[in-house]
Amino acid sequence: MSILKVARIGHPVVRTPARDLTLAEIRSPEIQKLVDDMIETMHEYEGVGLAAPQIHVGLRLAVLEVPAFDERAEQAVPLLVLVNPRVTPLGKQKVEGAEGCLSIPGLRGTVPRFQKLRLEALDRHGEPYAVEAQDFFARVIQHECDHLGGEVYLDRMHGMRSLAFNEEMDRHRAHDDEDESTE
Ligand code: NI
Repeated sequence: MSILKVARIGHPVVRTPARDLTLAEIRSPEIQKLVDDMIETMHEYEGVGLAAPQIHVGLRLAVLEVPAFDERAEQAVPLLVLVNPRVTPLGKQKVEGAEGCLSIPGLRGTVPRFQKLRLEALDRHGEPYAVEAQDFFARVIQHECDHLGGEVYLDRMHGMRSLAFNEEMDRHRAHDDEDESTE
């Protein structure tokens, strides 16, 4: 396995909508290795998710995972491989929470997201699955699926006033328990 280079905003690939994979592509050794490498890269950079455009690949493919012991997460997120995902919000309710992104290093901001959603996708073997997710799990899914459309969390913020450097936020935050972040 390999650790991949992460593209930052400013590289066109981050802003280019990705395309769906074919079943033959999903099952190819190249894509299977790519999925393994994306999982390893996500772990290496301590992200909770990683989308293919972030590693210079314009395909609708993402991985996510948050261990239960991760202090940033209000809940664990299972390791999930999302191929050609479709997200349907369940209800109109949105909740605000902090997000960061490996493609926008050092920063985080407050982002409204649908509280609950249904995700339909293919797994790494091309088998369809569907899950209902809420709260932090739903937030991570929305963040990663945005990447597949060439969007980043900055686009979803109501304004830039909550945007902050992690270092400053950690220094000035007085035991704030609202903290969570998404990569
Ligand atoms: Ni991101």
